[in-house]
Amino acid sequence: MSTFSMFPTKSLLSLLSIAVSLGVSVMATPPSSLELFVRMVPPKGRTIADIDRTRVTAMMGGDQSNKSSFPVEDATFGYTASIGVGNPPTTYQLVIDTGSSNTWVGAGKPYHQTSTSKSTGQNVAVTYGSGNFSGNEFIDEVTLSPELVIKSQSIGVANFSTGFEGVDGILGVGPTDLTNHTINNSSLLVPTVTDNLYKQGSISIDLVSIAFAPTTAENDNTTVGLMTFGGTDSTRFIGDIEYVPITQTPVSSFYWGLNQSATYGSTTLFNNKAGIVDTGTTLVLLATEYFNAYANLTGGKMNNATGLLEINKSQYQKLQTLNFQIGNTVYPLSQNAQIWPRALNTLIGGQDDSIFLIVGDLGDLGLGSGLDFIDGFAFLQRFYSVFDTTNRQIGLAFTPDTFALSN
Ligand SMILES: *[C@@H]1O[C@H](CO)[C@@H](O)[C@H](O)[C@H]1NC(C)=O
Ligand SMILES: *[C@@H]1O[C@H](CO)[C@@H](O)[C@H](O)[C@H]1NC(C)=O
Ligand SMILES: *[C@@H]1O[C@H](CO)[C@@H](O)[C@H](O)[C@H]1NC(C)=O
Ligand SMILES: *[C@@H]1O[C@H](CO)[C@@H](O)[C@H](O)[C@H]1NC(C)=O
Ligand SMILES: *[C@@H]1O[C@H](CO)[C@@H](O)[C@H](O)[C@H]1NC(C)=O
Ligand SMILES: *[C@@H]1O[C@H](CO)[C@@H](O)[C@H](O)[C@H]1NC(C)=O
Ligand SMILES: *[C@@H]1O[C@H](CO)[C@@H](O)[C@H](O)[C@H]1NC(C)=O
Ligand SMILES: *[C@@H]1O[C@H](CO)[C@@H](O)[C@H](O)[C@H]1NC(C)=O
Ligand SMILES: *[C@@H]1O[C@H](CO)[C@@H](O)[C@H](O)[C@H]1NC(C)=O
Ligand SMILES: *[C@@H]1O[C@H](CO)[C@@H](O)[C@H](O)[C@H]1NC(C)=O
Ligand SMILES: *[C@@H]1O[C@H](CO)[C@@H](O)[C@H](O)[C@H]1NC(C)=O
Repeated sequence: MSTFSMFPTKSLLSLLSIAVSLGVSVMATPPSSLELFVRMVPPKGRTIADIDRTRVTAMMGGDQSNKSSFPVEDATFGYTASIGVGNPPTTYQLVIDTGSSNTWVGAGKPYHQTSTSKSTGQNVAVTYGSGNFSGNEFIDEVTLSPELVIKSQSIGVANFSTGFEGVDGILGVGPTDLTNHTINNSSLLVPTVTDNLYKQGSISIDLVSIAFAPTTAENDNTTVGLMTFGGTDSTRFIGDIEYVPITQTPVSSFYWGLNQSATYGSTTLFNNKAGIVDTGTTLVLLATEYFNAYANLTGGKMNNATGLLEINKSQYQKLQTLNFQIGNTVYPLSQNAQIWPRALNTLIGGQDDSIFLIVGDLGDLGLGSGLDFIDGFAFLQRFYSVFDTTNRQIGLAFTPDTFALSN
């Protein structure tokens, strides 16, 4: 049996029964979850740091009204989920993206129309750092899990796409405003799947939570993440979830953006700068000035093959904690959390026995760019994250993997 099962019935039932037996389910509607799988595409010809920076360039455009030209690159690391479209549903593997908000299919497996499929007559086009697609907009039934069925979801159906090797499209769970200018090049907005689950009463709050675990093996089809709609899953985090408002600083305010300070050991890297939390960025990126300071403090030397800072064993032993202060809480990246999983060194062009740091150079966007860091995949593997549209806030919590020696 394929481990990419359409319906995570067994784990869902066990999670629900745990929630009920502990009496922690405070939602009117029980939160429902979707299993996530890791996706790894070896970077071709460019480094993962370059690919992340390409995404930054795209994001600086703010929304689709500013499609500045940039090279198209396939994303390297990310999470996918099996999503059903139509009735009976066809299953598609979609990339989970908190940095974009259109949901679409057709990059790989073609769209299969059923009695629930209805063309809206609109065209759709979205440009990403990792590629682009264009096609036509449909209304269809979308099945995330047995509990999470959206009767009328507006989805894109690609007739052209590039940069989405091995997947069928995207499940966009970014802020809804990011869909501006994607439909008929107009200011019509497209509600996200989370918006629609909330509107139709399937969930009692417009919110999605994500639990990731550190990835250490290639082609590992076991579930490495869990996405919970309308609530949080208390089995996946430790302590309290601390919430902060979405930052007011553009361009970070267009995304899941927040204010953050950073220290390395006892040295302050920056104070109260705006940046974003993003599942679609592989590394933790810091603006060039802060990245250079971090490189200097760790002694990391740029490795051209990977685009990452490399350190030796004694430098690793001396690594100090990289602390991100968000709201009143400090989120520490331990020694082990600051290095690339060594089992995956060769995948990104490095040597087996090298030690690479996961802090990358975001680039120099200039003073007041409003984007000074990205807490990407490498950060989200260590902390639980909550994306709350209803209250315009982001929540973070420690997990059993925050201090794990997995790399
Ligand atoms: C588009 O984005 C670029 C940065 O990528 C920026 O320099 C330019 O000013 C933006 N243009 C508009 C009209 O916002
Ligand atoms: C969108 O564009 C299509 C094709 O250009 C047109 O037929 C349709 O009426 C437009 N829809 C809206 C809502 O503007
Ligand atoms: C989409 O990607 C293709 C192939 O790289 C490119 O030719 C096209 O200009 C891109 N479209 C947009 C709108 O960026
Ligand atoms: C794809 O769909 C768009 C929007 O409807 C349309 O403008 C374009 O001509 C179509 N391209 C192809 C190759 O069918
Ligand atoms: C979208 O509309 C803007 C302004 O109305 C125009 O400059 C741009 O060329 C249009 N883009 C496309 C892809 O039609
Ligand atoms: C969408 O873009 C238009 C400019 O074309 C802007 O006036 C409008 O405020 C934007 N809508 C949202 C919700 O951001
Ligand atoms: C993992 O899943 C992919 C996609 O379904 C499949 O092609 C591959 O054979 C699977 N690998 C293993 C080890 O099961
Ligand atoms: C974030 O920092 C900016 C700049 O210091 C400040 O104006 C803003 O009030 C802070 N808080 C939020 C939620 O944006
Ligand atoms: C850090 O920078 C200082 C000068 O700014 C330099 O002297 C020192 O060698 C650098 N340290 C490392 C480890 O690169
Ligand atoms: C690494 O890249 C830099 C900048 O492109 C270049 O100056 C340097 O010579 C390269 N080093 C090696 C060892 O290839
Ligand atoms: C590690 O690198 C530092 C700085 O270049 C150097 O002083 C030290 O001797 C190296 N240690 C080992 C074990 O290679």
